[in-house]
Amino acid sequence: MELKSPEIWTVEKLQALLAGADTAGFRLAVLGDPVEHSLSPLMQNAALEARGLSYRYDRLLVSPAQLETAFRSLRELGFIGWNLTIPHKIAGYRLVDRLDSEAESLGAINTVVNQDGNLIGFNTDGRGLHAALVDAFGVELTKSKIALLGAGGGAGQASARFLANLRPERLLLVNRTVEKMDGLRQELVTNSGVTFWDFTQLRQVFLDADLIINASSLGLTDGPLDWDPKWLRSEHRLFDMVYRPQGDTPLVTWAERNGVPAVDGRLMLLHQGAFAFEHWFGQPVPLAAMREALMGTARY
Ligand code: ATR
Repeated sequence: MELKSPEIWTVEKLQALLAGADTAGFRLAVLGDPVEHSLSPLMQNAALEARGLSYRYDRLLVSPAQLETAFRSLRELGFIGWNLTIPHKIAGYRLVDRLDSEAESLGAINTVVNQDGNLIGFNTDGRGLHAALVDAFGVELTKSKIALLGAGGGAGQASARFLANLRPERLLLVNRTVEKMDGLRQELVTNSGVTFWDFTQLRQVFLDADLIINASSLGLTDGPLDWDPKWLRSEHRLFDMVYRPQGDTPLVTWAERNGVPAVDGRLMLLHQGAFAFEHWFGQPVPLAAMREALMGTARY
């Protein structure tokens, strides 16, 4: 399916809309910087079409300095809601009127609902990750030994909190720079299933884990990987939160070559987007249409 609008909006253009121009159904957006690679419009517009809703979801290029203005403009324009992507998930947290309890405990938001001028912040990334892992591998997370790579990064910290709350059998948090996990270490001190590691200890981490989740930007570029493929075993499941519009990520390609089941971050994008859609429009969520738009197939 083709995007209904390849346009990337800016805050300046948005403010022109406030002056009375025709908004042609533009009532939902993803705010990011950069934002041009976001695949959210593809699946959200497919969902809107499947539900027979005549709104449009577009990309909105917003710098960190413009975020507050963007929130104000979108509220005034009567937008139904919006998503936040890099680098706005933590800053956006402070710009809403109310937070749902999950967003509050994760310390970041990715979804805003504009309820009659009241902005409510949600975080659907955690539930999206959970649903994607179940969808991909049928695993039960409470019985899993999970290694989370990149736990000190922005996406990694929110995932670490979400996964720790589920109390898996074991949660091994790994980051290249261990100091970036200091905050998590303090927060999770009473959770005995959680341990902290650096990348030099990956071999041991892989021995102790059955589900490996990459939340780092490792493999986002084509540089060499720091791991030895021999550390992966066929019992492992690899979930790479990274995705690339042009196809498989290096980690996924590499895992599959070694006989390890692996999926990329499009599946998490799909499920977090489905939960966001539900916050805006309620059930039913046209998941099959969203999946098809994103993956080019009704199943993935
Ligand atoms: P995001 O918000 O997308 O998670 P980020 O906060 O910049 O982005 O985090 C990037 C993550 O990728 C960090 O965990 C980073 O590790 P450091 O905290 O040590 O910087 C990790 N990362 C990036 N390149 C890496 C590499 N080559 N090897 C291991 N980890 C890497």
